[in-house]
Amino acid sequence: MAIEWDEPTRSFLLTGDGFGYAFAVERDGTPLRHLHWGSPLDRADLARLDPDGGARVGSNTWSRPRAHLEELVAHGGARFDEGALLVEFADGVTALDLRYDGAERTGADALAVQLVDRHRPLDVTVRYEVRGPALCRRLEVGNRGDEPVVLTRAASASWPVPCRPRYQATTLTGGYAAESHVRRQPLGPGRLVLESRRGIPGHAAQPWLAVDGGPGAATEESGEIWSVAVAHGGSWKLVAELSGDGHLHVTAGANDFDARHVLDPGARLTLPDTVGVYAPAGYAGLTARWHDYERRYVLPRPEQARPVLYNSWESTFFDVRHDDQVALAKRARDLGVELFVVDDGWFTDRDDDHGGLGDWRADRTKLPAGVGGLAGEVHALGMRFGLWVEPEAVNPDSDLYRDHPDWVYRWPGRAPTPVRYSYGLDFGRADVRDWAFSTLDGMVREGHVDFLKWDLNRSLTDAPGTAALRHEAGFHAVVDRLRRAHPDLWLETCASGGGRADLATLSRFELAWPSDNTDAFERLAIQDGYAFVHSPQTMSCWVTDSPGYLSKRAIPLRFRFHVAMSGALGIGGRLGQWPAEHLAEAAGYVARYKEIRDTVQLGRRYRLDAGADRSAVCCVAADGAQVAVFVFAQTVRQDGHDPPLRLRGLDPAARYRDLDTGLDYGGAFLTHHGLRPLLSGDYASELVVLSRE
Ligand code: DGJ
Repeated sequence: MAIEWDEPTRSFLLTGDGFGYAFAVERDGTPLRHLHWGSPLDRADLARLDPDGGARVGSNTWSRPRAHLEELVAHGGARFDEGALLVEFADGVTALDLRYDGAERTGADALAVQLVDRHRPLDVTVRYEVRGPALCRRLEVGNRGDEPVVLTRAASASWPVPCRPRYQATTLTGGYAAESHVRRQPLGPGRLVLESRRGIPGHAAQPWLAVDGGPGAATEESGEIWSVAVAHGGSWKLVAELSGDGHLHVTAGANDFDARHVLDPGARLTLPDTVGVYAPAGYAGLTARWHDYERRYVLPRPEQARPVLYNSWESTFFDVRHDDQVALAKRARDLGVELFVVDDGWFTDRDDDHGGLGDWRADRTKLPAGVGGLAGEVHALGMRFGLWVEPEAVNPDSDLYRDHPDWVYRWPGRAPTPVRYSYGLDFGRADVRDWAFSTLDGMVREGHVDFLKWDLNRSLTDAPGTAALRHEAGFHAVVDRLRRAHPDLWLETCASGGGRADLATLSRFELAWPSDNTDAFERLAIQDGYAFVHSPQTMSCWVTDSPGYLSKRAIPLRFRFHVAMSGALGIGGRLGQWPAEHLAEAAGYVARYKEIRDTVQLGRRYRLDAGADRSAVCCVAADGAQVAVFVFAQTVRQDGHDPPLRLRGLDPAARYRDLDTGLDYGGAFLTHHGLRPLLSGDYASELVVLSRE
């Protein structure tokens, strides 16, 4: 990794693991002229880069400079394309006119480029950091004047994508109970906008977008792809704008919806990180680079596999009672579970979702021995103990709200807007943060809690869009303080399922709950999309009952286990109602999972081309010594076409043995001819484990 300055071309060349990125200063009417994002580049070629980026010259009709030629589109002059920065000075002027004012190395792989306005006392720092296979970019804006300045748009970066004949976007989109589906769409002239206005990342889309050279240009194994994520747990926005003559740039950052950032004299605003990852050879490589980035730079405890957990939600819902939980815990322990998590319903006035939030005391009628008493029993069974919380919300019928009605987001003179019967606590306030920390600190300390599932079941309401940045900073501050106070505490992020699994949150949470939808069949697409970008060790997957409580679909235990075993395995069923043969079968799956867990969670993950009715994933251990192949079919038809499952990520020269069948295969054979797992019936699945010889 390197950051180089090239004096003859007055350019910076940033080189990461498998990519290069370059821009020049003060050229073609822009302070930062974008030159290159793609494969690593020889510095000698900086002088060869197309000076006008392929744009037609001489037209007065285009924006000037063209957006795809600028590192940062800051509105002013003849810039009409989607921009990252738009200001409003006190006298009504809304134009910026930035110039380069120097650059500083802020670390071995970090650069801060200083821009200042030519006319007004406003400065912008454009920060770059090379982090392995990723480039992180963000902005800081400072008001050096003596009057307030309003930022009416404050994204973090413009990401120009090289000119190609066509473009196609890959998104991870959906909705509640259907999050993160991998979708592809051609990009035509105009804008594709992905966003959340909710104060959390939301269920409709992951804050992530990838672009390739049009349908067919990229496959799993070939073709260039450029991708951008917004590392922000608040309202975010990604805009891919394609000009009529085929130039693309992606604007990424915090959402500008209802967001006027007032910068008082002397104030500086730091905007969220955006992360760009280039992949030269297909989607498999793109996924590998994102996983590599998360494991090396984002996740806490990246080297540790996550425990097999049990979660009580779909078993007892709000009816959390000591004896029932202990009975569940014993059954869970017998299955091989390592962490027992008590979900919602354990605290006072929490018999449904109308009350209780804010008053974080154990309901002594349900838990006579308190949280600590229950935790003690779970610990005695040899498992870690976890608890559900929703610290950012409060029910109106609570002591906390009665004592502090001013702690919630609300417009003056109006009642707050309830969402799931709760109001939002303003984590921008120091007193709210102190309360949240001391409440959680006491809960963890006195309750001997090893793990918190931190949920949020509401969007941010009754506050302007700018509140999302303050709220996120407050949320991070509380989480960070809690982690410092309890270094052994593990955390799971959840927001009514997969509503908050962005990179900023994942940097503080060991696990994420991708969806409330635990139907194993529907879950396949959700997990596929989640793991497209995020490391599987964070992907919490529970085996629940059949028929599922949301889908009402009946699915065999084997399929349900195999689906959950392809992520971080958990169990969430009514174990008291599982017949003995199911319990015995389940214990077998858990034992099997522990043999392949490191491979699934910490290894390389490849999507396989399994044919129309099937899906398959191949997990290869980091050291290549073990391979776990999962294959799933909703139904197997006699007229179906069952191509062999050609594996990916194997060493063609090595031999691999299936210890269950005793058969051994060459890596080249498995790659070119593949396996032919025999599937039959409905919801058929197979797990094949291979050991390198
Ligand atoms: C929403 C979560 O996604 C569920 O798993 C569960 O924790 C409920 N909240 C509890 O209210």
